[in-house]
Amino acid sequence: MGPDEALADDRLSDDEALRAVVEHLAATNPVWGWVGVYLLVGDTLILGPYVGPATEHTRIPVGRGVCGTAVAEDRNVVVDDVSKLDNYLACSVGTRSEIVVLIRDGGEVVGQFDVDSDDVGTFGPADEARLEELAGLAGPRCRRLAARLAGEPEGEAGA
Ligand code: SME
Repeated sequence: MGPDEALADDRLSDDEALRAVVEHLAATNPVWGWVGVYLLVGDTLILGPYVGPATEHTRIPVGRGVCGTAVAEDRNVVVDDVSKLDNYLACSVGTRSEIVVLIRDGGEVVGQFDVDSDDVGTFGPADEARLEELAGLAGPRCRRLAARLAGEPEGEAGA
């Protein structure tokens, strides 16, 4: 099953569907060394499903690092060479380039895809476009997971 199908498949839980997406992306892009989803809960990004080495950055305040900056500035971020950044949180010593693509639901940021590579300049416009496509499908699932993490009821919007 491809990532688009996984996101659309009602039989999969939100966690299972996002896990299928990051596993598919990691398996089909060998130089994508770390692929994960962060969920936005209040002013904090909380690590969701990921593939790659364990990271100490399981919670990132908005505004910190590449991930937190993307939310603070409401934009996707592509970094060709992380060694040239001051505001960078190293996940793995070998990481050289990174892409963060925001996940929205109803226009509101609810999370992000974060991908790292050990090569310089791995990520380009085609990668951003593909991740944006998946982000469009992942929005409702990320909103529900973020709400669960926040301990909020999952009541239907407008109910
Ligand atoms: N590099 C990210 C932190 C997340 S880890 O790479 C998984 C950042 O600077 O926000």
